[in-house]
Amino acid sequence: MTDPTSTGPAALMALSEELARAAGDHVRARTGDHGGVARTKSSAVDVVTAVDEEVEALLRERIAAARPDDGVLGEEEGVVAGTSGLTWVVDPVDGTVNFLYGIPAYAVSVAVVSGGADPLTWTLEAGCVHAVAGGTTWTAGRGIGAWRDGERLGPRPAPPLAEALVGTGFGYTVEERTREAAVVARLLPDVRDIRRIGSAAIDLCLVADGRLDAYYESGLNPWDMAAGALVVAEAGGVVQGLDGGPASGAMTVAGPGALVDELAAALRRAGA
Ligand code: IPD
Ligand code: CA
Ligand code: CA
Repeated sequence: MTDPTSTGPAALMALSEELARAAGDHVRARTGDHGGVARTKSSAVDVVTAVDEEVEALLRERIAAARPDDGVLGEEEGVVAGTSGLTWVVDPVDGTVNFLYGIPAYAVSVAVVSGGADPLTWTLEAGCVHAVAGGTTWTAGRGIGAWRDGERLGPRPAPPLAEALVGTGFGYTVEERTREAAVVARLLPDVRDIRRIGSAAIDLCLVADGRLDAYYESGLNPWDMAAGALVVAEAGGVVQGLDGGPASGAMTVAGPGALVDELAAALRRAGA
């Protein structure tokens, strides 16, 4: 059991893993009878299941019990401010459409940040991405490293863009998708291939462990990227925006440094 009063990166990482695994147990228990779509959000294809809501409630309850003074930002219920300076940023199910269809690429993403729950100002302290179906679990703590199932992750080679397998994703509105489709159409001839896996958190972790060379997406929310971005950074990779600034809702580009530079330049040429 983790010491819940410690704010060191190792203790916060252990707590984020405990939380993500407990949430994952709940998702697994509900996989066969998730009840389908409970409601929709930004568009008819932006769906929420009862399980998304149950898991966020479970995470909030456990965070309140372990660290009552911390804030929480979650996808389904928004932000509750804290007084400690730390905020938990959680996505109860990242890859809800995959979960709905039984495609095994969905994850619980739990991170804790200081400096506010905004990617432009936050410092990522610790995080865990727990892929529910296969059980693969990535963890990271600021300054102490990143792991996949307990195995330390290190810097990856940077292939040239033409040989890079690049992950991406798309938003839920017609306007976002129209822009994103135009960019990906221009980028595709310049890369080895494109993958649209359906979970931004898993995409980032696959970059960290080398199963994707790079990843980009516009329109991410803080909870999609928080834990995965720290896993990439602590594995020796780079996560940034289009012009070298911090990643944000405008654009997130992740991979080995040299490849991120090449990909960001190609994205700018493609009109991103
Ligand atoms: C979505 C997934 C998807 C990405 C979308 C996200 P959700 O999160 O991460 O891969 O392309 O931008 O909104 O809705 O499944 O939690
Ligand atoms: Ca998400
Ligand atoms: Ca989600």
